[in-house]
Amino acid sequence: MAIQEWNTFLMPYEQAVEELKVKFRSIRKEYTRKKEYSPIEFVTGRVKEISSILEKANKFNMPLDRIEYEIEDIAGIRIMCQFVDDISLVVNLIRQRKDMQILYEKDYVTNVKVSGYRSYHMIIKYPVNMAEGEKNILAEFQIRTLAMNFWATAEHSLNYKYKHEIPKNIKKKLKDAADAAFQLDELMMEIKDEIKDAQKLFEVKSSLVSNIMNNILTLTSLGKLAESTRYQVQLNRLIEEGEAADLDSLFQETEKSLEKFK
Ligand code: GTP
Ligand code: MG
Repeated sequence: MAIQEWNTFLMPYEQAVEELKVKFRSIRKEYTRKKEYSPIEFVTGRVKEISSILEKANKFNMPLDRIEYEIEDIAGIRIMCQFVDDISLVVNLIRQRKDMQILYEKDYVTNVKVSGYRSYHMIIKYPVNMAEGEKNILAEFQIRTLAMNFWATAEHSLNYKYKHEIPKNIKKKLKDAADAAFQLDELMMEIKDEIKDAQKLFEVKSSLVSNIMNNILTLTSLGKLAESTRYQVQLNRLIEEGEAADLDSLFQETEKSLEKFK
């Protein structure tokens, strides 16, 4: 295939990766907007390099016209979660979607690979609307925690560097690192509720601060400089050491002032 043909072939995959990134990032946005905890921490995506596609096709003696059916990860999406049990939440979100069809799933979270690799994989069929009509493509989702991702990325780089023949001493460290990553995920699960509460508190506080600042700005623009300065001083003090309740009462105060002057 000439480079121009490759570009044409890859276009629907590029489209799919862009769309899927937007869709999963929107889910996160929706949760944060509702001030709820999001099981999705962040999302990445990529289209497989032509050289890697060819390498895989050669390895399996695959004719070029079979590539789109046989290579399932030309479009790849990674969804990162904070906690192990967020993975099944994300999997269920995906199972309920009507805009993609799940072909099969591989649970390497329960069934850890001998390499130490953990992740939840889903192979899906996804329709993209191109200029010339609808095209169904295959895509691979990898859903994993931050710790799983850290380990898999490191292991992947080492395999690349050593051409899949990682020296024994490094292999041993990699195995230890996989155990450590597993331990970390277990520990984080135990303090998950604490962490969620803390993150929620942060969200609540920062949204109160920004609401108060807006009110102070409005007071300033109404020419109420004495009030706005007084509130600004109070806000500065609360940002340093205030509880959510203190911020909330300051917010209520600024609301009352505004009502009076409007
Ligand atoms: P390929 O490994 O892609 O040929 O496909 P497969 O049919 O063996 O599927 P599998 O689910 O095993 O792997 C799909 C993808 O998961 C790989 O392309 C990698 O991105 C990732 N993966 C699987 N196993 C490992 C592993 O041991 N280490 C790392 N770093 N990634 C892995
Ligand atoms: Mg494999």
